[in-house]
Amino acid sequence: MENIVASASSQIADAGHENAPRRSPPGTFVIFGGGGDLTRRLLVPAIYNLACAGLVDDHFSIVAVDWTDMSTGQLQQNFHDALKNFVNSRGTEAVALREDVWAWMSTRIRYVRGSFEDEATYTQLAAEVGDENCIFYLAVAARFFGAIVDRLGHSGLAHETDGMFRRVIIEKPFGSDLASAVALNARLLRSLRERQIYRIDHYLGKETVQNILALRFSNGFFEPLWNRDNIDHIQITAAETVGVEQRAKFYEGTGAVRDMVPNHVMQLLAMTAMEAPTSFDADAVRDEKTKVLKAIHAVGREDVVRGQYGAGTIKGEPVAGYREEPGINPQSRTETYVAMKLRIYNWRWAGVPFYVRTGKRLAARKTEIAIHFKSAPYALFRDTPVEKLTPNIMMLHIQPTEGVTMQFSAKIPGPTVHLGGVRMKFDYSEWFREGPSTGYETLIYDCMIGDATLFQRADNIEAGWQVVQPVLEWERDPGFLHFYPAGSEGPKAADDLLARDHRHWLKIGS
Ligand code: BG6
Repeated sequence: MENIVASASSQIADAGHENAPRRSPPGTFVIFGGGGDLTRRLLVPAIYNLACAGLVDDHFSIVAVDWTDMSTGQLQQNFHDALKNFVNSRGTEAVALREDVWAWMSTRIRYVRGSFEDEATYTQLAAEVGDENCIFYLAVAARFFGAIVDRLGHSGLAHETDGMFRRVIIEKPFGSDLASAVALNARLLRSLRERQIYRIDHYLGKETVQNILALRFSNGFFEPLWNRDNIDHIQITAAETVGVEQRAKFYEGTGAVRDMVPNHVMQLLAMTAMEAPTSFDADAVRDEKTKVLKAIHAVGREDVVRGQYGAGTIKGEPVAGYREEPGINPQSRTETYVAMKLRIYNWRWAGVPFYVRTGKRLAARKTEIAIHFKSAPYALFRDTPVEKLTPNIMMLHIQPTEGVTMQFSAKIPGPTVHLGGVRMKFDYSEWFREGPSTGYETLIYDCMIGDATLFQRADNIEAGWQVVQPVLEWERDPGFLHFYPAGSEGPKAADDLLARDHRHWLKIGS
């Protein structure tokens, strides 16, 4: 089949083309937590990729702020090592680091040593950045978000003058419940205007997540079917095989609900269920997302299953249970899994349940959205050997497989009427040639050019927390935690949740 779509990377590289993305405006990218893991693994490689694509202005610099005793030279060396590692470890083929791009980048990197809570750090920073455009990236633990933004405000660093911008990118977790998210939003708004705040959810940097809107709204044939008349139910799965990793301290106080649901899972749900915005303007898109999240009916306790993994097997290897992991309380009641049945009370979705689940140490790493259509009437087949009709399912594969699959019935060749389920598949990697990317490129570039569409507004965040707030209030209740072996499909109670509605989850493992 002819590839009718030009490769996205060739489009980006085609700077002479009138629709090619424009270079970022000049400015300084300040990273609080510049010596940390997120910076090395994701931010620096993302900026490198943008530079490779010719999207970064020549008048650009990176200022990394951290408390570690380190020279600019050492930081540059760290970043260089990180980039080498990145180009070697990502993508299907080994790619060499572009030394010309690194040479360009390395002269633009500076280090500022200082505490995030010390006024002197901000005085030094103000001298570094002068009156340039600035993006302040908060790649730090959540407890510093408010403190840093307060100081950006006091020091005047957050102040914009004519033709110059100051923007702040804030990582997750944004709050730990509804009240703390509301309080953090209020605190940020004391120093910044809403349009200066870019609350990041890295799921929105994934091409496959962005593609949900493109798929729904750029094709004439999906949208007319996308409603309660044709859809039976929707399943959203974000399954991981990793356990708590080295994040025991963070995860013990967080758990799967806070870590994944108000943010990533709600983004997937909003993209799937929202109405068409009137344009791709940031506020038009975010208005619709908030509207649909606000239409979610308050969840009942019987519609929620919390789980925690016990010992089991992942990829043939025995692994410890959550309570045996280093740094975890042996009596911990933190959930590593949650499944919920959600109902959206609006015209389009009344009566269509959305079943969502996310967890660690499950049978496979798999994030996907399954749209289960209603079955066709059986009447026509009553005198044939066909016993039942297989419902149509449209699968949006977010990761690690990236693509879309349609499942439908076809006649099995032969003299009698027998039907078989078949699958038609669009695979991103077959159609688009892409180099290694972090998922942060689009987000950083969008912030540079002032496009907040893929970032969360205060009301989006609060609407996400509103959905999970009841679950947080029941988390101490005895009996509100089920166990599942590592490497399994999750707790049995989650199967029962769907069995009650005469439905079942699609399998996570193969
Ligand atoms: C993070 C969570 O936000 O998302 C992690 O804190 C989780 O616990 C991760 O593992 C999943 O992201 P991805 O992109 O690997 O699906």
